[in-house]
Amino acid sequence: MKYTIDDCTIIDIPKKHSDRGSLSLVESNNSIPFEIKRVYFTYDIPSGAERGGHAHKELFQIIIAASGSFSITIDDGQNTRDIFLNNPSKGLLITPGIWREIKNFSSGGTVLVMASELYNEDDYYRNYDTFKELV
Ligand code: TYD
Repeated sequence: MKYTIDDCTIIDIPKKHSDRGSLSLVESNNSIPFEIKRVYFTYDIPSGAERGGHAHKELFQIIIAASGSFSITIDDGQNTRDIFLNNPSKGLLITPGIWREIKNFSSGGTVLVMASELYNEDDYYRNYDTFKELV
């Protein structure tokens, strides 16, 4: 199936707030539309650094700004969209076949990612021209 940037929706992450703070929770196939097989997070990101710069062939992901903020540009080879994430109760669904660039990190900006598959380098497009040709 060919996905587009319109399939990359913002998902509400359920939140419990009390006078002791906030708790956001993510459940496979419940708050998000796939089973989570892997979680990773990127942090200590220097000012001006960019992450991403790739697309996936089969992988679905949810990206959450667990702290701080950053912007994500998503690109399906035809159209692009910029999304600003700064709220741990919002997750961006990224489907297969979407190039993403993550930048404009605030101090402490932490990218929390939940993924539908284990790590597999063969699932990446890391060259934009190859991605563009194939999608
Ligand atoms: P990469 O996916 O390019 O990170 P980002 O999208 O945040 O820029 O991965 C960076 C490096 O980490 C790369 O060498 C692959 C490795 N890596 C793993 O070994 N396992 C993983 O689950 C992930 C996401 C990356």
